Amino acid sequence: MIEVAIMGHGVVGSGVAEIITTHKRKLFSSIGEEIHIKHILDLREFPDSPLCDRFTKSFEDIINDVEVRVVAEVMGGINPAYDYTKRLLKAGKSVVTSNKELVASKGAELLQIAKENNANFLFEASVGGGIPIIRPLSQCLVANEVKEIAGILNGTTNFILTKMFDEGMDFDAALKLAQDLGFAERNPEADVEGHDACRKICILASLAFGKHVYPDNIHTEGITKITLSDVKYAASNDCVIKLIGDVKVLNDGKMDIFVAPMLINKKSQLANIDNEFNGIMVRGDCTGDVVFYGKGAGSMPTASAVVADIVDCCKHLKARKYLFWADSTNDNIIPYNKSETSVYLRFCAEDPESALIKVKDLFGDIRVLSIENKAENEFAVITPKLSIDKISDCLSKLNNDGVTVLSKIRIGDL
Ligand code: HSE
Repeated sequence: MIEVAIMGHGVVGSGVAEIITTHKRKLFSSIGEEIHIKHILDLREFPDSPLCDRFTKSFEDIINDVEVRVVAEVMGGINPAYDYTKRLLKAGKSVVTSNKELVASKGAELLQIAKENNANFLFEASVGGGIPIIRPLSQCLVANEVKEIAGILNGTTNFILTKMFDEGMDFDAALKLAQDLGFAERNPEADVEGHDACRKICILASLAFGKHVYPDNIHTEGITKITLSDVKYAASNDCVIKLIGDVKVLNDGKMDIFVAPMLINKKSQLANIDNEFNGIMVRGDCTGDVVFYGKGAGSMPTASAVVADIVDCCKHLKARKYLFWADSTNDNIIPYNKSETSVYLRFCAEDPESALIKVKDLFGDIRVLSIENKAENEFAVITPKLSIDKISDCLSKLNNDGVTVLSKIRIGDL
């Protein structure tokens, strides 16, 4: 019997306890021993839980229990998860986590501590919920030079954008529905402003390129400014809008990494990933494009990945899994204003016809979009590929000339 503990009994933690309980025989056949939940840490009371005798409010019960070999950290947030995880790893216990904030901000340090203490620190559930992506990237695709990773990494925003496209639902109503369905973070700002997706693309970039990418200085845009007009213009161009976390390696070896909404062609595999589903495309030099698809949020899908990591730790109690990246200072990342892209622009001007001529003069070879029943003073175009610097420069000149930009969204080549 292998004794484990679970820290947190929320959406994910209760799912972990449920899977370990209901899939006992399946897990036994994989490990050859039974997984037994010895402690569940939570400050709340769960008197009706069938595991009510395992609950504790004290972390000391877990850290001081020499029988506990593997701990699932599913509390979320940095504190006290970071402190607890460090102490557990230093005590030689393996830790698995679904906590993307923790991995994105402290991953290099925690992996180093795990290495020094011959313990494992695994985090399959931190990106893509139930979708296997950490293991495939670190093992199955390891023979490739990864050229680009682009993903729909946040279920809440994908759900909102799908509702806006398919049902013409407005942003607030769609967010409320996502919250009611349990996809959203406690603070939905992390979803809708792109921070959750940013943490996830940073984890994938760190893993693929071997150096920690910290989220702090990564350009991160959310979806709060997208309107139903943008949705119509995108559709008129055979595109959908998706919130994409993207990292690509440029010729000089530096990374272009950001999170932003993008217009992507309806034929792209990522365009057809809807609702709370996530999709991650990895461009390998040997494999070409490989796409991972599944439920990126929710109790049971995420818990499935946490339990898989518990099983992996149970099978490797004496050995380390080779999952590692080095610390870094983000010096291998280009500034966002040097990033190059075509963009969709929606403008408003008193005289749209002469404004369009000014836009053509500045941007060159643009494509004009048209929709039915467009607002009287509005027009929208797609620019050629230019640097963000150059685009900003043109937009400020137009603004000085009375042509106001209402929307600016990258065009994705995915
Ligand atoms: N709030 C996140 C999402 C949960 O919507 O994808 C999973 O990380």
